[in-house]
Amino acid sequence: MAMKIGIIGKGNVGGALQRGLARAGHEVRAVGKDPGAVRQAASWAEVVFLAVPFGALDDALRAAGDALDGKVLVDVTNALTADMQLALGYTTSGAEELQRKAPRAKVVKAFNTVFAQHMETGQVKGERISLFVAGDDASSKERVLALGRDIGFDAVDAGPLQNARWLESLGYLNILLGYVQKLGPDIGFRLVR
Ligand SMILES: NC(=O)c1ccc[n+]([C@@H]2O[C@H](COP(=O)([O-])OP(=O)(O)OC[C@H]3O[C@@H](n4cnc5c(N)ncnc54)[C@H](OP(=O)(O)O)[C@@H]3O)[C@@H](O)[C@H]2O)c1
Repeated sequence: MAMKIGIIGKGNVGGALQRGLARAGHEVRAVGKDPGAVRQAASWAEVVFLAVPFGALDDALRAAGDALDGKVLVDVTNALTADMQLALGYTTSGAEELQRKAPRAKVVKAFNTVFAQHMETGQVKGERISLFVAGDDASSKERVLALGRDIGFDAVDAGPLQNARWLESLGYLNILLGYVQKLGPDIGFRLVR
């Protein structure tokens, strides 16, 4: 079923998700940092993606305000400091902190373990990769798993929102493998089961 999806952030990640979700038949609006546009997109959407830098989350939340109440809020961010270290962990996560700041939204962690260039198709070198999805609200998590499958991912239920601690670590490992170990961004995780 086609969904109305608002994406806050229209950079590498927001743009790729917009193309992948639109190709799958969803109605998508992606917006940048203009607060009025953020508010409008959040009000209009059924599912809202946060695809802004970790340090811009508070601004985005402030702009969206109560338009997020009751909505599925997909946290795509990697919780990193300005010098590219893991900002939180291992006793909390960016997603759990986000849920505290937006208590009436249904936060789901997903997509952060995937490089942006693969978010449009869910594939790397022609092979389907895994999308790990963590959240506490079962129906919200199922919606995000379905959106991942619509794009082309192998969608994996990664458990409650608390498991975002490990997804954020895995996202950090992805960055280290790509850019410190120099494998490049043409890589992705696949859960064989
Ligand atoms: N790049 C990756 O491969 C990758 C993979 C997984 C997760 N992530 C995570 O995804 C997020 C976005 O990454 P990206 O690579 O897409 O970054 P990016 O290309 O720099 O895009 C960032 C977007 O966020 C918007 N933005 C900045 N401040 C904002 C604010 N206060 N309110 C609303 N929007 C704001 C920018 O708006 P304007 O267009 O108006 O400037 C821009 O559209 C980050 O948290 C990153 O850790 C990235």
